[in-house]
Amino acid sequence: MRAMPEGFRWGVATASYQIEGSVDVDGRAPSIWDTFSATPGAVRHGDTGAIACDHYRRWQEDFGLLSELGVTSYRFSLAWPRIVPDGTGAVNQAGLDHYRRLVDDLLERGIEPAVTLYHWDLPQALQDKGGWAERVTIDAFTRYAEVVAEALGDRVPRWITLNEPWVSSFVGYGSGRHAPGLTDGRSALLAAHHLLCAHAAAVPVLRGAGGQVGITLNLSPIRAVSDDEADVAAARRMDGCQNRWFLDPVLTGRYPEDMVSWYGFEDVVADGDLEAISAPLDFLGVNYYTRTHIAAGERAGLRHPLRPALDAHQVHPEGLPRTQMGWTIEPDGLRELLVRLRDDYPRLPPILITENGAAFDDYADPEGGIDDEERVEFLAGHLSALRDAIDEGVDVAGYFCWSLMDNFEWAEGYARRFGLYYVDYPTQRRTAKASARWYADVVRRNALPD
Ligand code: NOJ
Repeated sequence: MRAMPEGFRWGVATASYQIEGSVDVDGRAPSIWDTFSATPGAVRHGDTGAIACDHYRRWQEDFGLLSELGVTSYRFSLAWPRIVPDGTGAVNQAGLDHYRRLVDDLLERGIEPAVTLYHWDLPQALQDKGGWAERVTIDAFTRYAEVVAEALGDRVPRWITLNEPWVSSFVGYGSGRHAPGLTDGRSALLAAHHLLCAHAAAVPVLRGAGGQVGITLNLSPIRAVSDDEADVAAARRMDGCQNRWFLDPVLTGRYPEDMVSWYGFEDVVADGDLEAISAPLDFLGVNYYTRTHIAAGERAGLRHPLRPALDAHQVHPEGLPRTQMGWTIEPDGLRELLVRLRDDYPRLPPILITENGAAFDDYADPEGGIDDEERVEFLAGHLSALRDAIDEGVDVAGYFCWSLMDNFEWAEGYARRFGLYYVDYPTQRRTAKASARWYADVVRRNALPD
């Protein structure tokens, strides 16, 4: 057994639109994901989050699963359109009451809530006015944070302002693969900056309510496919786009210069923005899934989140195993990433791995068992890499597996299963996969099997 540090936080993660369903009850208004998923061709099989895991009604049963796993923390997100349905106007008490019940129940179970304010479900009414491409959305988010802090601040110990702003901006406004489905490079850059400003505005509000505050970034070590100068430069740009574009402003107060000139970006930053964005955080949330392998040159017609044009494209090297998402399985990439963060950013706060996990083609056998050995191997490999990083001196305070249960995987709909629990959607039955039992064991021992 390899013991983890004492007090290490163990959790699982979910997000509102991916699990809740009940999209039109108790005063919730539409989000950009309701609109986007209703657009023909946007999501695989035309799936939507209208029912999802029906968690809005079944949350108590689902919290029973958390207790079964024995986790010490649970990361979930609030649906902004349940709380301020039109983004700027009246506060919906029913929405706040719902989340207060969730938080109170978790606390009673001895499970620490780690609450994300924005996991991609922007009120549609705000998108109708331009969404994240407009600066006024920062004010709307600040007010939403104030409302939430006032209602839940006395009982939530850990806040995550934003989940993966790179995806919300570059994939939502750049490649158009996610809501709101726009394909405009400049809007993507504006959205990214405004998201960071919104994060900055929410930090003092949430901290004032007494909790620890961080932001979750999706980070990936980038590798050039060859030593060729053009490939190396393309990989550096991809690193600039996905990793440094968010890490640098948050942890150093500057956008990376090479990318500022590549994008021709400066004019959207107002006085004081970067100072606010770089205010110290209590932790950095890291979502890690895979390494990214990059070659030079845009691929014609590629609907890929590398936009705005990076003159680079992603390749999947032969010989590496992959998950059902097509992502290469590279546990050591997690160690590499964590060590790099420590080496490159002197002001790095403690890290929480806020997501890590994998989709596989899970198969329920005739007796209903789901023996997902690939997921067990995936998690074991990544936890071991995480332990290696801790051995190398990186301060990692906890780990959240994505996800508690199968759910709505955005543009992939229900066709990709990331859960420790299998969800049979027609009956909404949850069944523990082998990985759930394995994870519960790891959590109980606070140690990894050899
Ligand atoms: C990151 C996102 O935060 C989450 O919503 C998504 O389901 C997982 N990655 C898997 O793609």
